[in-house]
Amino acid sequence: MPKRTKILKKSSKVRLSSNPKMAKLTLGKEAYDFPIVVGTEMEKAIDISSLRLKTGYTTLDNGYANTGSCKSAITFIDGEKGVLRYRGIPVGQLAENSTFVETAYLLIYGKLPKKHQFEEFSKKFTIHAMIHEDMKNFFNGYPAWGHPMGILSAMVCSLSAYYPELEASEPKQREMGTIAVELISKVRTIAAFSYKKKIGEPFIYPRADLKFIPNFLNMMFSSSNTEYVIEDDVVEALQTLFILHADHEQNCGTSTVRMVGSSMANLFASVSAGICALWGPLHGGANQKVTEMLEKIHRSGGDVKKFIKKVKDRDSNTRLMGFGHRVYKNYDPRARIIKKRVDVLLKRLGIHDPLLEIAIKLEEAALKDDFFVSRKLYPNVDFYSGIIYNAIGIPVDMAPVMFAMARMPGWIAQWMEMRNSEVLRINRPRQVYIGEIKRDYVPMGKRK
Ligand code: ACO
Repeated sequence: MPKRTKILKKSSKVRLSSNPKMAKLTLGKEAYDFPIVVGTEMEKAIDISSLRLKTGYTTLDNGYANTGSCKSAITFIDGEKGVLRYRGIPVGQLAENSTFVETAYLLIYGKLPKKHQFEEFSKKFTIHAMIHEDMKNFFNGYPAWGHPMGILSAMVCSLSAYYPELEASEPKQREMGTIAVELISKVRTIAAFSYKKKIGEPFIYPRADLKFIPNFLNMMFSSSNTEYVIEDDVVEALQTLFILHADHEQNCGTSTVRMVGSSMANLFASVSAGICALWGPLHGGANQKVTEMLEKIHRSGGDVKKFIKKVKDRDSNTRLMGFGHRVYKNYDPRARIIKKRVDVLLKRLGIHDPLLEIAIKLEEAALKDDFFVSRKLYPNVDFYSGIIYNAIGIPVDMAPVMFAMARMPGWIAQWMEMRNSEVLRINRPRQVYIGEIKRDYVPMGKRK
């Protein structure tokens, strides 16, 4: 079992007041009591861990729509009110005032850094930006058309082979902050290298004189004979996007990281699995699908009404990508901030993007339409983010990679919290079996 780290101990300080009331479940003539757990934001849950033991029943909750998988002190969401906070701080305040590196510190250590702590933390991003030179050979094995999320996931898992000392299957207090930085920093390098490989240009190495986001932009867009001019507006826009994507409690990707990590798999393997989960079009892969959807509408004449009609036709199997959310039943607070950022960035860069016009028209049409209103479908984080990536010149299939890079601090903080939790158990849901009941094997010649 892992030793508890200082960092983890801190992040797991959840002050949960045990409500004296118990929830009563009646099954036939028997009544059973289950404790009610109340979180710091007064969220109530019924602790059914002993349900099977007491009653022989299990719970069934398709898609885990109403299952709390853990207690966590990292991120708070109130989906009805459109609230999102990291370690108690509203995400809007962070997007306005913080940087991605500072927000990463906040998520990982549970508090905002003092000046010297921030400087020390930032310095580590530069020290650990390189990947092992041999890992470059992997890139040569991928075809130019390979999706960069597949490459990212494989490369992150491969880090465990190159840096076994950082494997962190036994997190130690001394190392965890450094391991977090190493992983975040190396993922940035891998992401940029995968783009260079795709466009057939030589890799541009990370530079010690550049901060986190400018360093990434330089690795992406500079070449051996031209230096990319890093514009403040572009850095600011990415800074906002990265902060807004940094964590989002127990979604599909993060639950995957925790699920894999609960078997005591190392951090790299766990995060690699999270990247694969995030890739799906219903999750972080939606940012790519939104741009593809907008491009398709644009190519076919820009008829928004026609597209909305198609979405409403249940037989068409078409979704309005970038709309809807499991938790937000209100406007996703991240989408609101991103929409503003899009306006500012495009104006400052003097870009007119017809896809933005289509997106705005789609949003207006959907928010007036009972189909979307009655289902509480609003724009989510992925609806406008692709337009920022387009403006910067980041190709559409790199959009989920940008998301994964930004999600890294959250995944690491969640993994650490899980591994240091008081109740570390392997994650293992149950099922309700609906297959054949017992039957005997029939030899091939006698089968009907
Ligand atoms: N377009 C059209 N209809 C939708 C959409 C959509 N984008 N989202 C949900 N619906 C409809 C469903 O068809 C369903 O209708 P019904 O009750 O008539 O069957 C109802 O709304 C509820 O939808 P569910 O799929 O049950 O909602 P769930 O919580 O399971 O899914 C999800 C949430 C996956 C985000 C969904 O809204 C979706 O597919 N959105 C589009 C993809 C997307 O943008 N994903 C990114 C989410 S943000 C993130 O993960 C980073």
